[in-house]
Amino acid sequence: MTGPSSPSSTASHPASAAQPWRASPCAALTGAVRVPGDKSMSHRALLLGALAVGRTTVSGLLESEDVIATAGAVTALGARAVDRGEGNWEIDGVGIGGLAEPQQALDFGNSGTGCRLMMGVLAGHPITATFIGDASLSRRPMKRITDPLSQMGARFAGPEGGTLPITLTGANPPLPLTYTLPVASAQVKSAVLLAGLSAPGQTTVLEPVRTRDHTENMLRAFGCEVAVDEGPHGIHAVRVTGECELTPTHVDVPADPSSAAFPLVAALLVEGSDVLARDVMVNPLRAGLFSVLKEMGADITFENERETGGERVADIRARFSSLKGIVVPPEGAASMIDEYPVLAVAAAFAEGKTVMRGLEELRVKESDRISATVAMLEACGAEVEELEDGMIVTGRGGRISGGGHVLTGMDHRIAMSAVVAGLAAENAVTIDDAAMIATSFPAFRDLMTGLGAQIAPTNG
Ligand code: S3P
Repeated sequence: MTGPSSPSSTASHPASAAQPWRASPCAALTGAVRVPGDKSMSHRALLLGALAVGRTTVSGLLESEDVIATAGAVTALGARAVDRGEGNWEIDGVGIGGLAEPQQALDFGNSGTGCRLMMGVLAGHPITATFIGDASLSRRPMKRITDPLSQMGARFAGPEGGTLPITLTGANPPLPLTYTLPVASAQVKSAVLLAGLSAPGQTTVLEPVRTRDHTENMLRAFGCEVAVDEGPHGIHAVRVTGECELTPTHVDVPADPSSAAFPLVAALLVEGSDVLARDVMVNPLRAGLFSVLKEMGADITFENERETGGERVADIRARFSSLKGIVVPPEGAASMIDEYPVLAVAAAFAEGKTVMRGLEELRVKESDRISATVAMLEACGAEVEELEDGMIVTGRGGRISGGGHVLTGMDHRIAMSAVVAGLAAENAVTIDDAAMIATSFPAFRDLMTGLGAQIAPTNG
């Protein structure tokens, strides 16, 4: 690719704004919490709202930096996303193909999901837009998105390595495509399906490994037909027929299981704890962590299971438990891909070895999450071996020394996982920077301290 060559200078968290924290061993965590809305669904509600004709309303939207970046992009493209307070938003959609060329580059901050899904949306619009992000997002691979979207007729200009900043010129109209996912990525699947909405005919994504299906579920809620069939070798075909019209709807966003994981795992590890997380989305393609923890001996129960807006929801209760190490099935990785750092913390408190493999994708998340998780556990005094595709954690039955300092590497989930370790370790754990937690879970510290956690800013 050729084109804009200057590195992105949009890091929303310059080093001078680093927020070091200390998480200290604490007494039992108790209480009921409602963690914020699901991040994946919040991005999709804004994007599909922008593509519908008329006003979509959303309740429970996650108001984190990542999602606010998507709301800003949607507004910059001419579909107003308006904050009505307390997680209620309105989006005035302009219809598929109706988005306007933005005046400025679209800044997605730290958010891979917002950036990659929006590339899919704009690949089907006859406009040009430049995508930028912070230092972490500017390192992440975009070729996985630009490859299929180029096959659909979109054009991209950017650095040779396929990273941001990238300028996209959409196709008018894009060509329908049948595309086999080379990596198990819901972001790639979603980008192709969203571009397919503008294509004359059927666009099909073939998934050798199933990934989260919120795009499919939400498209149906907006009145678009999405067919999913299982073919030979368990390959799923997901099909959309383009040039449809999306009908505005109301999206009620349940709580994010990836955020609920932090207070729930903390409850498993801190003696005497009993925590209830309310209204958590438990779509089976997202809930892998909870099954794995149960297999490790965790006292986790789903209560009040129900369905809202096309997604399964439950209240999840976790009580202090003695955990044992297991071999985590690699085929379930996609259903818990964001939960490995906190699972690794749980494994460090278990008795025996926990083997986590098949995790190559973790190397291209907000940080290299295999290396970052291994370094975090080592700083906390846990025994861990790094593998190319995962790690093996050897727990000593409920005890780790803590006392270390963790570098979070612009990764919110490493920061929150290290905090969980510090609450249950023998000595406090410090982190260099909690600022990135605001990308997914701005109220994390308040919510955790409300349960009895000891987390405080330090001087570094
Ligand atoms: C997401 C998909 C996952 C996940 C990310 C959110 C989504 O990424 O890690 O946090 O909303 O589609 P990949 O699909 O690239 O694995």
